[in-house]
Amino acid sequence: MKPADPSSPPVRRLGLGDVPHCLDLAQDRSWPREERKWRLLLENGEGFGIDAPDGGGLAGTVVLTRYGRTAAAVGMMLVASRYNGQGLGRRLMNHVLAEVGDATLFLCATEYGRPLYEKLGFETVGVVEAWVGRFDAGDGPHGGSSPQRKHSRLAEPGRDLAALCALDIEVFGADRSRLLARLFAFAEQVRVVERDGEITGYGAAWRSGDKLFVGPVVAEDDETARALVTDLAGGADVRIRIDLHHHHHQELTSWIAGRGVAQASTTSFMVHGGRALPGDRSRLVASFMSALG
Ligand SMILES: CC(C)(COP(=O)(O)OP(=O)(O)OC[C@H]1O[C@@H](n2cnc3c(N)ncnc32)[C@H](O)[C@@H]1OP(=O)(O)O)[C@@H](O)C(=O)NCCC(=O)NCCS
Repeated sequence: MKPADPSSPPVRRLGLGDVPHCLDLAQDRSWPREERKWRLLLENGEGFGIDAPDGGGLAGTVVLTRYGRTAAAVGMMLVASRYNGQGLGRRLMNHVLAEVGDATLFLCATEYGRPLYEKLGFETVGVVEAWVGRFDAGDGPHGGSSPQRKHSRLAEPGRDLAALCALDIEVFGADRSRLLARLFAFAEQVRVVERDGEITGYGAAWRSGDKLFVGPVVAEDDETARALVTDLAGGADVRIRIDLHHHHHQELTSWIAGRGVAQASTTSFMVHGGRALPGDRSRLVASFMSALG
């Protein structure tokens, strides 16, 4: 392991005042400037950064999101291209690893990040695929207005938040309630599907840049997932993006491809230290966003 360069600025906690520099750093790596996303992540979680020694904003960032005491996700790992390969990414991730202690830490890795994460003890346990395109609700048996398909309804925080969190903790295996409480203000819509008065699935759609993101989506079966996605994305006047967990591959992805949405990229879902993932991930259809695991 390379010793940290003593002349390099320390890792420091990021606040909302750093958002403009985070956006500049993202742009430097050809990532979109997603202000709403950074604000949510920094308000809800803990951002860490290294100031650029040349005075030009931030040289690196990472965001840690804790789910109770047992699990945490890490994302927004970025190092300015001019500081590439100088150990900043390793320093930032080591900082996060020290912060999380014993909690199970997971992330979605791009092909650029994966070699670094492997060196630091992360193992690939799955795949998350980003699907992007104009969603055509259609009028087949699973389409927009068909009476044969399941339907969702708009969720209301007062009425549904507690039940939604109870379902989510079974599926995600860690406490996302703080984040889910924010979801109602952050998202354009949060919807639920019920069976006999019990919530069996929920999903949200939120805007960032020129896209409508559909996620998280939790559903007891594909039919419930299709109902949520159709009702969330059906009226969208822009391209949607949905980050699908790979175990939902065949049926759901061929359905979504048939709705005009195409696979855009793939990330590796990685867990630190060979830990088993908590929860019942078979019902986890889509991520909230890749930085949140
Ligand atoms: C991925 C990224 C954060 C790495 O940051 P970095 O500061 O360049 O990484 P480091 O210099 O700390 O590298 C740490 C180790 O990983 C290795 N490594 C980093 N990127 C690598 C690559 N693409 N291929 C092989 N090894 C790589 C380095 O050799 C180094 O090993 P060493 O410490 O044993 O010598 C940076 O390249 C980046 O911002 N990329 C674009 C955005 C992105 O994709 N982020 C990841 C999101 S999951």
